Amino acid sequence: MSVESPVIACCPGSFDPVTLGHLDVIERAAAIFDRVVVGVGRNTTKNYMFPLEERLDLVRGAVTHLANVVVAPINALLVDFCAQQGARVIVKGLRFSSDFDYELPMAQLNEALSGIETVLLPGSRAYGAISSSMLREVASNGADITQFVTPAVAAAVRAKMEQR
Ligand code: PNS
Repeated sequence: MSVESPVIACCPGSFDPVTLGHLDVIERAAAIFDRVVVGVGRNTTKNYMFPLEERLDLVRGAVTHLANVVVAPINALLVDFCAQQGARVIVKGLRFSSDFDYELPMAQLNEALSGIETVLLPGSRAYGAISSSMLREVASNGADITQFVTPAVAAAVRAKMEQR
C-alpha cells in the first residue's frame, strides 16, 4: 500500500470566461493528479469582462462533474496560493508557441521562488487555439460562441452583452 501523500495540482488562470479549452486542460489534469485546485485570479495587466466572483461561479459551474476538482480565488502570489492549497504542481495549457514564450519565464520564476514545478499540457486539437479574449471580442460584436463554451457561460456572456 502506498503511503505517499496525494499529489495536488493547481490550474491557475483568469478564466474571463472559462472556455471548453480550459475545461479540457482541467479535466486532463484531474485524470493525472489526485486533486486539482483551479485558481481564479487577477492579472493586473488585464481588464476583465467578468468580475472575480462571476468568473469563480462560472468555473465552479463548469467543473461540477469532476469530483476531485475544487475552485478557489487567488488572493496572493500564485506560489503562495499553491502552498496554501498544498499544490505541488502548476498545470497550464499550451496552444501555440507564444504561449510557451509566456509560460516559460513564469514557470522558471515560480520554480525559483518556491521550488514548484510547472507541467505544460498541449491543448487538444478539438479546441484549437481559441482564447477567452478572442471569444469576448467576437461575442461583443454579436457572434454566437456556444460551440466554444458551456451553455451557462454562453448565457452569462449574452447577458453581459445585453447590459451594455
Ligand atoms: O494566464 P493569466 O490568465 O494571465 O493568469 C492570471 C493569473 C491570475 C493566474 C496570474 O496573473 C497569477 O498567477 N497572478 C497571481 C500573482 C502572481 O503570482 N504573479 C506572478 C505569476 S508568475
